Amino acid sequence: MHPLERKVLPVLKEGMELDEIAAASGLKKVEVMRALQWLSNKGALTVKQEVMEVVNLDRNGERYLKSGLPERRFLQGIRGETPVSKIDVAKDELNVCLGLLRGKDAITINKGKDLVVSITDNGRRMLEKESLEESLLKRLPVGLEKLSDADRHALELLKKRKEIVRVDIRKVWHVSLTDLGKRLSKLKLESGNTIETLTPVILQQGLWKGRTFRAYDVKVNVPKVYGGRIHPLQLVIDRVRRIFMDMGFKEMEGPWVETAFWCMDSMWIPQDHPSREMQDTFYLPYQGTIPEKAARLVKAAHETGGKSGSKGHGYEWSAELAKQLLMRTHTTATTYRYFGEKNIRPPAKYFYIGRVFRNEATDASHLPEFHQVEGFVMDEGLTMKDLMGYIKEFYARLGVHRIRFKPTYNPYTEPSMECYGYNEETGKWVELINSGVFRPEALEPFGIKTPVIAWGLGVERLASLILKQDDIRNLLGATGDLNWLRAYKVPRI
Ligand code: PHE
Repeated sequence: MHPLERKVLPVLKEGMELDEIAAASGLKKVEVMRALQWLSNKGALTVKQEVMEVVNLDRNGERYLKSGLPERRFLQGIRGETPVSKIDVAKDELNVCLGLLRGKDAITINKGKDLVVSITDNGRRMLEKESLEESLLKRLPVGLEKLSDADRHALELLKKRKEIVRVDIRKVWHVSLTDLGKRLSKLKLESGNTIETLTPVILQQGLWKGRTFRAYDVKVNVPKVYGGRIHPLQLVIDRVRRIFMDMGFKEMEGPWVETAFWCMDSMWIPQDHPSREMQDTFYLPYQGTIPEKAARLVKAAHETGGKSGSKGHGYEWSAELAKQLLMRTHTTATTYRYFGEKNIRPPAKYFYIGRVFRNEATDASHLPEFHQVEGFVMDEGLTMKDLMGYIKEFYARLGVHRIRFKPTYNPYTEPSMECYGYNEETGKWVELINSGVFRPEALEPFGIKTPVIAWGLGVERLASLILKQDDIRNLLGATGDLNWLRAYKVPRI
């Protein structure tokens, strides 16, 4: 037996409570609990937990127990016709006393200038004996189920008054020894020949010879320890990165805080486009800088179409608006930084996985802050068929085989296409990918004349599909499902 068990066992008596065992054994409550558990595992005792309601003295109750209830003090203070101001009870107790004592016909009240009271025969009798309330207060704390009908009546009266009594929930452990336990408790329980803890000294000096060791109970319930592990979302990100790498893409890198220029203007999103409004985009109260030459060409693309062959949007483009800093709303901002700053020339294949921010409400499939994956391919002769092929291949490598394409609209791609994946778990088609062929107006300012096909997708949404979660909010953040996060198994694909 463990030393704790040996300390607890001899003091145990039928029906004892945890506090009592702790006091009798000189152990802490947790130690007693542990010992009880071990002993019950051994079949030496049974432990039953009972939830009890206990009536306790509250703040005022404790005071009154010493000084007497205010109504008694009130009655005692009456000498003939007595103005209430002369009686020694607190202001907030006065009304209770008056109401209560008049209700019991213990006093008469004369309203003059001052309130004057006198005691009745009933009142005098009350002074001679203990009230039900006083009798109950003296016996607290007591279990609710032990109260007589008279006590219960008194309790109801006291509960109506301020902080005299309180009914608390208490958990009580009932312990009873089994036959084995009874036999064990009669044994001499010194550790004697048993070694409790193995130390280097015991090994070095051979002290273990001829002695026995305490056995370990490997079946006992112990607190769970959770080791650190990689978040499932990170695993999905790593897998996506692997897939792009395997398909020969290079990885890009870009900032979270962007100018409107790289996030929107560079790709021919007009400056009055609804997605640029504050309801959709988090703006910062600062301006950034924009590259002069690219700005000139982007301005031309917006205003007249520049050399792209388009008529442009036909409005006056503002460099000031383009300098506005914001939290990027999509990773296409980084694609465009690469077009503008890295002089990418065909053939080229790039991808990026990064965080983006959108001013929108959270629900099962939306978060205001999430990760996007973006890929583009730049080469002669690319068409929508290539785009579909890449997307299909990308999904196949993720284990999503049922996909559907649908035409859509993007300001910077034409044609544009959405792709849906089938969620086997919910039986629903989920929009996963937005894609398209970049428009000439969105490429010409950067000197790109070859077709560029591109696609972007939300990682959290993809992760909920792969990880078979029907609500994105289970995955991460304050609403994350901890039990699932601790227990999930990485799906093998
Ligand atoms: N940027 C788009 C989005 O946020 C995705 C996209 C990327 C669309 C590239 C077309 C081309 O939804």
